[in-house]
Amino acid sequence: MKLAVFVSGNGSNLQVIIDAIKERSLTGINIEIVIADRNCFALERAKQANIFTYQLDRRSDWYQEVDFILKKREVTHILLAGFLSVIHPAICMTWKNKIINLHPSLLPKYGGKGMYGLSVHQAVILNHENESGATIHHVTEQLDDGKILLQKKCKVDLDETPESLQQKVHLIEHDLIIEGIKLLYAET
Ligand code: GRF
Repeated sequence: MKLAVFVSGNGSNLQVIIDAIKERSLTGINIEIVIADRNCFALERAKQANIFTYQLDRRSDWYQEVDFILKKREVTHILLAGFLSVIHPAICMTWKNKIINLHPSLLPKYGGKGMYGLSVHQAVILNHENESGATIHHVTEQLDDGKILLQKKCKVDLDETPESLQQKVHLIEHDLIIEGIKLLYAET
């Protein structure tokens, strides 16, 4: 499987995948390219691991150039791991069932517009939820709405803050992301 990972931020999930491939707990999978929509630490992580990187201009209509690069690098699957730009509908169609996203809540709750970063965890706490978690789902044209593949839960404590919940969910994600990639690999 030749994977493209799309990122916008810290890239801790990307790092987990890089490490798993290096340690051979994830086999048959190669990160072919890391694509970012801004200058971010995830790009540094990719470069340090000698992975090909590409930074797109999120203010431009970037679909065609990205489509060209994905084909050129012979990418077979796409993972969105903290990618904040909206994916062009044509990408969703071309990569149907071969593009997955990692989301820091138990979808369908707390998904959609504006539900990213700390806002997700703030909303969970404000609504007095007693559990939260992370989801891996297929990407479709509707934001955070594709078929749910995997979910993992955690408890929301009474003294929970958005920051502490974010940390908890991040830890869950680091397991879930590896399972999600394995599942995607097994499906094809
Ligand atoms: C994760 O919480 C993921 O669910 C969300 O963005 C965050 C990315 O974290 N889509 P990192 O950049 O992998 O550390």
